[in-house]
Amino acid sequence: MPRYLILQDPGHNRVYFNASLGMATAELSVLCQSRHWPAPTDCELAGIRYLQFDTPEPLNAADRLAIAQLSASYALFSTDGKQLTPEPFGNTHLIEDKISSLQKYAGKTNEHFTRLMINMARYALEPTVDDRPLRLLDPVAGRGTTLFEALTLGMHATGIELESRSVHETQVFFKKFLEQERIKHAHKRQRVAGKNKQEAVFAEQFSFAGDKKSLAQSPQTLSLIEGDTLRAAEFCKPNEFDLLVGDLPYGIAHGNKGQVHTSRNPVELVASAAPGWHRVTRTGGVLALAWNAHLISRQALAEPLQATGFRVLHHSPYDQLIHRVDNAIRRDLIVAVKQD
Ligand SMILES: C[S@@+](CC[C@H](N)C(=O)[O-])C[C@H]1O[C@@H](n2cnc3c(N)ncnc32)[C@H](O)[C@@H]1O
Repeated sequence: MPRYLILQDPGHNRVYFNASLGMATAELSVLCQSRHWPAPTDCELAGIRYLQFDTPEPLNAADRLAIAQLSASYALFSTDGKQLTPEPFGNTHLIEDKISSLQKYAGKTNEHFTRLMINMARYALEPTVDDRPLRLLDPVAGRGTTLFEALTLGMHATGIELESRSVHETQVFFKKFLEQERIKHAHKRQRVAGKNKQEAVFAEQFSFAGDKKSLAQSPQTLSLIEGDTLRAAEFCKPNEFDLLVGDLPYGIAHGNKGQVHTSRNPVELVASAAPGWHRVTRTGGVLALAWNAHLISRQALAEPLQATGFRVLHHSPYDQLIHRVDNAIRRDLIVAVKQD
């Protein structure tokens, strides 16, 4: 049986890297499960840690791409037990990985963790009949880390974000990125809800592709909706998304009468938004949400999701993802499958 070793990407965040071995193993194990490979392990060679996995056959091109797209992957080797041989990764998609590390701002979700969230969700998907690109919604998109990670994986991405400044900055950044990378694209602003000017909700819609013909026929898309995620079912079509992935707001703000709060208790937010999220996700589609487990238990978050018709995955490795971000935040990920 061929044996492979993955060298973990050290990234730029030491706290995350130190905490990430368990998460990286969990992420690789859902990929192995989806391919019916034996469960992976980890090992240390000359003081450097690796993720180790065996496959019944040598890796094919699709396997190599899937390995390359794991959040932890930095380099791949095959081994005969004595020596390591460097192995190529698969081809990447049009939008390069670097996109999510270009911007730095307060409140940004670590891009490695964001990639892991998407992978945990997509390997829990029930298979589709065709192999069209997946469609992902981040219902609390911030300045777009999940959306950009989804684009690097070849998906279509849609984000809903309450703060107009974040939406504006994401749109300006992405347009500039497409121009600098000389990627063929089109951009329009489209009304997605609201009968009149005052009530109008707009989406910034990008389509892009490697060449003119693909841009006309089968472009990849990014849509940024400036609005309240509680209204997701008004902005998006029923069953539109395969994946719903996001990093929930971290603060708990209790409303005083007369004051407007953009941030709420994440449980309240999830309880109010879940029916709409359920509506816009296809049956068998998967939701993955990160939250601060320091403040809110897994059970408290699972209840409103289950009550709405999501089946929460509590078993291993979905229960292995809690990790320390800083003194105030212990981040965890809840993954759930949409039932009929
Ligand atoms: C943790 S941040 C997401 C950060 C994002 N992953 C990034 O890296 O840029 C959560 C976001 O949820 C947004 N948010 C909070 N309540 C919302 C609501 N009701 N509808 C839409 N977005 C909301 C906040 O404005 C904030 O940008």
